[in-house]
Parts: sequence; structure tokens; C-alpha cells
Amino acid sequence: MWDERYKDEKYMYGTEPNDFLKEQGQRIPKGGHVLCIADGEGRNSTWLAEMGYHVTAIDSSQRGVEKAKRLAQDKNVIVQHICGDLSDTPLFEQKWDGIVSIFCHLPSALRERIHRQAVDSLNPKGVFLLEAYTPNQIPYGTGGPKDPDLLLKAQKAKSELLGLEFEILREVEREIHEGDGHNGLSHVTQILGVKS
Ligand SMILES: C[S@@+](CC[C@H](N)C(=O)[O-])C[C@H]1O[C@@H](n2cnc3c(N)ncnc32)[C@H](O)[C@@H]1O
Repeated sequence: MWDERYKDEKYMYGTEPNDFLKEQGQRIPKGGHVLCIADGEGRNSTWLAEMGYHVTAIDSSQRGVEKAKRLAQDKNVIVQHICGDLSDTPLFEQKWDGIVSIFCHLPSALRERIHRQAVDSLNPKGVFLLEAYTPNQIPYGTGGPKDPDLLLKAQKAKSELLGLEFEILREVEREIHEGDGHNGLSHVTQILGVKS
């Protein structure tokens, strides 16, 4: 499905980083090791590498990873790209200073597991950053999946991310203009949590 969506040369969500990441990304300890999950065509991992982080990015779309590699090359930065599925990756056995989850809409059972693994794999003071659509997004029709199971309320996220101290935990309505994929007034959960 994602290979098909990413088949054009054009980047579906553009080549600029997500707004929330751009606003908060530098809260991740300087020069740290960052894991970007469901990184798609690489706009977020590339930006993090430009900011001086050591970045590893995983996505299950081969075409997405191919475009992500090209973007990193064009911007002259190094990102370790992995084409793989979050349901079956050893990446959470490593320790990270930051984990970035931008519009990573997974089935809830898998998401709960990934969130537990993410918290466990953060170093002390490590930062977890997330932006995802809430179930209220569906009638907006400006992006994101239509299956409520894939969407995330802030309080649900909080219950899945035990072990973090939340500096930002909110649902907001905001204008999103990130490529053709996300375009217009939207309803999102935003999280910045720090591992205690
Ligand atoms: C809405 S896109 C977001 C891409 C990127 N984070 C961004 O903001 O530009 C969702 C991404 O999740 C990836 N994805 C979905 N399920 C996945 C899984 N189980 N493992 C790895 N990646 C997955 C898709 O391939 C797709 O690239």
C-alpha cells in the first residue's frame, strides 16, 4: 500500500520536517542517537541528521526508504536507513537518546507494544516525540487513516507510555500543510515525554 502511495517522484509529505518536530526536536539531547520510526520518505530523519544527531530510520516501505536515502544524499547527511517492520525489529534492544514517531498510525495492539518498547529503550533523559491524528480527525478529511483503531487520543497515549514525564501532552486543532498527504485543518495528539 505505501509503496504504491510513494511511487511518484514527488514526496507525499514534502521534504521539510514535520512542524512539531521542527519546534521541539532540539529538546533531544544534543548530538544523541535518535530512532525515527515509520519514517516514510525521510523528511524527518534527514532534518534530524542536519541538526547534528546520529539518526537511524525505519520504515516498512521499500519505495519510502529508497526516497529517504535519496533525500539524505541530496542534503549531504548520513542516516542509517532500515527497511523493516516495527512488529519485528531488534532496534528497541539498543539505547536511544530520542525516539521520534510522526504520523506512525499502527493497529492499537502493535502500537501499545511499540510504545512500551520505546520507553524501555530510551536512555535516562531521553526524549520521546510524537505527533499523530486523533479519532476526531476523521471528519476533517485532511489526511490520515479512517480506522479509529489506528488513531490516538492523548490520554490513551499517556497510558501506553508509562515511565515518561510529560512536558507536552495535548490534543490540538492545527493547520497542517505537509505535502499533498496532510493538507488543511487537522486534529492531532502531540507528545514530548522525557524518560525519568
Ligand atoms: C503517514 S506515513 C508517515 C511518514 C513519516 N513519518 C512522515 O511524517 O513523513 C506512515 C508511515 O508508516 C509506515 N508504516 C506503517 N506500518 C509500519 C510498520 N508496521 N512498520 C514500519 N513502518 C510502518 C508506512 O510505510 C508509512 O511510511
